[in-house]
Amino acid sequence: MRTQVLIVGAGPSGLLLGQLLHKAGVDAIILERQSADYVLSRIRAGVLEQVCTDLLDAAGVGARMHREGLPHTGFEIMNNGKRHRIDLLGLTGGKSVMVYGQTEVTRDLMDARKSAGLPTIYSAENVAVHDFDTAKPRVTYEKDGQSFEISCDFIAGCDGFHGVCRASVPRKSITEYEKVYPFGWLGLLSDTPPVCEELIYVNSPRGFALCSQRSQTRSRYYLQVPLSDKVEQWSDDAFWAELRLRLDEEGRSKLVTGPSIEKSIAPLRSFVTEPLRFGRMFLAGDAGHIVPPTGAKGLNLAATDVKYLSDAFIEFYQDKTEAGIDHYSERCLRRIWRGERFSWWFTQLMHTFPDEGAIASKFQQAELDYLLHSEAGLRTIAENYVGLPLDFGTAAKN
Ligand code: APR
Ligand code: PHB
Repeated sequence: MRTQVLIVGAGPSGLLLGQLLHKAGVDAIILERQSADYVLSRIRAGVLEQVCTDLLDAAGVGARMHREGLPHTGFEIMNNGKRHRIDLLGLTGGKSVMVYGQTEVTRDLMDARKSAGLPTIYSAENVAVHDFDTAKPRVTYEKDGQSFEISCDFIAGCDGFHGVCRASVPRKSITEYEKVYPFGWLGLLSDTPPVCEELIYVNSPRGFALCSQRSQTRSRYYLQVPLSDKVEQWSDDAFWAELRLRLDEEGRSKLVTGPSIEKSIAPLRSFVTEPLRFGRMFLAGDAGHIVPPTGAKGLNLAATDVKYLSDAFIEFYQDKTEAGIDHYSERCLRRIWRGERFSWWFTQLMHTFPDEGAIASKFQQAELDYLLHSEAGLRTIAENYVGLPLDFGTAAKN
């Protein structure tokens, strides 16, 4: 078998890349370790920047998102029981975000791929990448007890944090930057109306909480918990009781509780790999970088990697130029570090750090007090939250 671009991983990055390439007439095969149902069972964040919704439109998969997604023009920060609205629209000159679950984005991309008859090989075992430092890369895998090989022009490593692509790069050719946070997020999904029309990020003395949503009848809540906590220790009742303690009076009175549909604990990590290109293999999305979920930048950063990568491949085939490929890593990393910085900063600002002492919490409160009462401070939060434009800073650089 042969293809132009072999994509490893059918998460949102791999599927979006496949769709953008297909639109431009570039062939791709996707190899995925799991089943399609398994991929769809993963619950992740659900706030899309306009750069991301524009890309989904360009890929031809935006229709349901526009019908069912919820445009949000602001969100709330609650500090010590007091709410402050971040007016995204007013502070950014008209920008907003779209609340639409990542699972739904993935489903729309899968459906589009299926109806276009494009090849995705699910349940592919022992995927291995070969010869990516030559002009003739290959990928091997096993399925139903048989071995297969696909030769290609390029390998796109869209295989997430635990994937095979990054792991196959010689250690001397790669630098990894990592910070692991001393707590996790316990998330609960329920078919209950959200406590508020907008998202609420809560800094309380008992720890961070987030009130998010998937629709007008489905809510997603999170609690900061110690890393040592196990999800089995948290009954639904215990979750709701703790959430109440972190909310204000209005939140407590409006909160509608119900049985959980899903409950899980996720660790928080900042992680970046440099570079993102290794000969004819490229990393995109979680394969190359992870952000803590505060601010929901993960999918948005993945989507812009994929835009840069699809542009580079399309230029290679249509215009016979390698310029996009040569600049991929640098272009992506500049944007990634900005997203990483915001996610790290917003995490520091909103969580309780028990080991950092009383002075750290005083500094944090002073910073919040400053930001939430300064036009410049509010604008800084808003412009990062809606996402920096794709060409941000390019003019200044030139
Ligand atoms: N072979 C084939 N597929 C693999 C392999 C492998 N060896 N290893 C991992 N995969 C698959 C995983 O099963 C998964 O379906 O690659 C896919 C990677 O998908 P994601 O982890 O969702 O990563 P990505 O598509 O980059 O999506 C980024 O996910 O975690 C969030 O915040 C993140 O929203 C962002 C988004
Ligand atoms: C979510 O809805 O899951 C979500 C929303 C915003 C975040 C993180 C997660 O910052």
